[in-house]
Amino acid sequence: MKIFLDTANIESIRRYNDMGAVDGVTTNPTLLSKEKGHPAEIMREITKLIKGPVSLEVVGIETDGMIEEAHRLTKFGPNVVVKIPMIPEGLKAVRQLREEGIKTNVTLIFSSNQALLAAKAGASYVSPFIGRFDDIGHDGMVIIKEIVQIFANYKFDTEVLVASVRHPVHVVEAAKIGAHIVTLPPEILGKMMLHPLTEKGLNSFLSDWEKITKQYQVTF
Ligand code: E4P
Repeated sequence: MKIFLDTANIESIRRYNDMGAVDGVTTNPTLLSKEKGHPAEIMREITKLIKGPVSLEVVGIETDGMIEEAHRLTKFGPNVVVKIPMIPEGLKAVRQLREEGIKTNVTLIFSSNQALLAAKAGASYVSPFIGRFDDIGHDGMVIIKEIVQIFANYKFDTEVLVASVRHPVHVVEAAKIGAHIVTLPPEILGKMMLHPLTEKGLNSFLSDWEKITKQYQVTF
C-alpha cells in the first residue's frame, strides 16, 4: 500500500521523505492555511521535494474555472494531480482533464456511488473521507470495502486513496481491505513507527552492552 502525507508542512514532508516513507502528498486549502508563506510557493516547493504524485486542490466550483485552475496548477510540476470536488461540475472537469492527459483526485467522497461516478468520469484517484464519516456516527471503513470491491469488479484503473485518517488502526484496516493508498497527517505516520516494547527492548540491549564493555573493556 502506498503512503501519502496529508499536509502542506515542508518540514514534515522533508523529515518523512528522508525515511523513505512518502510515496506522495495531498494538500487542501485548509492544510495550506495552517502554514506560513504564499500558498503558490508552498505548492511549488512540495512538487519539487517529492517525486511521487502531489495533489493540489482547485477552489473554483464551475467546470471552466476548475479546468483553468488545473492548467495553472499543473505548471508547478509534472507530478501534479489536480484535486477536484465531488460535484457535478467537478465530474465534467474530470472528464475533460482526463482527455487532456491530466491526472485528477476527486475529493470529498462520502459514498460508494460518488466513487463509482468519479471513476466513470476518469478520475485517477478517489478520496473517501473516512474520519469525517466516523465523526457523524458511521463506519467509514464500510465504504472503503465497497469501493475497493466495485473498482475490482469492473477493473477501473482509479485508485482508492483513503483520506481523513485519524489513527494508526485506520491504516491497518485500509491495508487489510486492499485500498491502494492512505494519506496521513504526519503525526499519524510518526505514531505508526513507535512501539513501547521497541523502546524498552532497545534500552535493555544498550544497558546490557554497557555492562559487558565495563567488565571486558570491549572496543570495536
Ligand atoms: C484529503 O485529501 C484531505 O486533505 C484530508 O484527508 C481531510 O482530512 P480531515 O478530515 O482530517 O480534514
